[in-house]
Amino acid sequence: MALNADDKAHIQAIWPSIAAHAAEYGGEALYRMFLSNPQTKTYFPKFDCSKDSAHVKSHGKKVLDALTETVKHLDNIDGALCKLSELHAYDMRVDPGNFPLLAHHILVTIAIHLPDKFDCLTHEALDKFLAVVGCSLTSKYR
Ligand code: HEM
Repeated sequence: MALNADDKAHIQAIWPSIAAHAAEYGGEALYRMFLSNPQTKTYFPKFDCSKDSAHVKSHGKKVLDALTETVKHLDNIDGALCKLSELHAYDMRVDPGNFPLLAHHILVTIAIHLPDKFDCLTHEALDKFLAVVGCSLTSKYR
């Protein structure tokens, strides 16, 4: 799957509104994942996984900041995520099936907070973007 020029434009148009709330949106997406998919908490044994905990907010911010950095490199997503791909595959050993789960919760969080900006084409573009990010972050498993 590849992002076309329209997808990139839609992602770049909405992203500053997301980046400005990295800890809030990232933390909420992470908390939604922990709540709806509690098996994902096993990767974070030392975290306080409760709503708005310092761990959840600071890790949520890290995840969204990494996506903000990736949005700056939409023509080279694999390059932008190279280090993180290695970390998730070799250090954290996250099962690839978990990436679509987090992507879903990021999408839901954005839709709730930015309803006016989340039109159908932006939804599609962000869905594709998060799928491409997931593919890239699991590419080192092979
Ligand atoms: C959109 C997809 C994702 C992005 C952009 C992302 C990004 C990040 C970033 C930036 C870090 C910090 C790396 C560092 O400290 O240098 C990290 C760590 C980590 N990620 Fe991900 N991640 C994603 C998906 C996932 C998923 C689905 C899981 C598991 C359910 C996961 C589990 C972890 C774990 C366990 C750590 C280490 C946490 C710690 O102990 O500090 N990640 N991730």
